[in-house]
Amino acid sequence: MTSLFSCQQISHSYRQGQQLFPALHDVNLEITAGEFCLIMGPSGSGKSTLLNLLGLIEPLQTGKIFFQGQELQAIDEGKKNQLRRFQLGFIFQSFHLFDVLSAAENVEFFLTRQGVPSAERKQRVQESLEAVDLWDHRTKRPQELSGGQRQRVAIARALAKQPAVILADEPTASLDQDTARSILLLLKNLCAQGRTIIISSHDPLARDYASRVLYLKDGRLQAGGQADAH
Ligand SMILES: Nc1ncnc2c1ncn2[C@@H]1O[C@H](COP(=O)(O)OP(=O)(O)OP(=O)(O)O)[C@@H](O)[C@H]1O
Ligand SMILES: [Mg+2]
Repeated sequence: MTSLFSCQQISHSYRQGQQLFPALHDVNLEITAGEFCLIMGPSGSGKSTLLNLLGLIEPLQTGKIFFQGQELQAIDEGKKNQLRRFQLGFIFQSFHLFDVLSAAENVEFFLTRQGVPSAERKQRVQESLEAVDLWDHRTKRPQELSGGQRQRVAIARALAKQPAVILADEPTASLDQDTARSILLLLKNLCAQGRTIIISSHDPLARDYASRVLYLKDGRLQAGGQADAH
């Protein structure tokens, strides 16, 4: 089995003035290509922090992370940007949509930066908005969409990039049960097509779709947290 992410003794704290807020302690974790990995745990347990470190959003403080065998700290910023742009699709807990762009333009934005040709961009935008059932809402800006619809635009944007890895922070948090199920099924199907899916969630529903469940508590990965979910 190919190790996609290998995390060795990761610890992380946030500093605000004189105060340190610990978020992760000594996390060791191997994630294999093709897994659907679910990270669960109470609010404040470090789920977003772990996803942000894996997604190269937050700089690593202590420990090591290897991606496809390469130590992340050892590669330059240009290579990291390439990874962010082509390999990693990130769905943020707070969506991070551009207010002035329509749903379709938000989905298209990163494809333009990736250099995807116009005709293919249009096709991917349509396919990914249809996959989250938002094609009819494509001309609306985020403030004209409901919270759940915004969440689905953020999901469509990550899908359209067709990345090897999708990292999603609470991707079903704003969704009703039926929509949450359809999004989890979509992620599971992407996993079956060979992509690696890593999500955080409070939603017990997500357990039915993941191939593996990890538990964080007070920034520590719980014993047995690496066991298979099924
Ligand atoms: N920018 C920050 N500055 C200070 N402390 C932070 C910051 N971001 C996170 N933390 C703290 O780090 C800890 C872990 O936060 P994190 O966001 O990773 O938790 P989480 O498991 O994702 O929680 P939730 O389920 O509420 O999203 C918390 O105690 C939080 O207050
Ligand atoms: Mg979080």
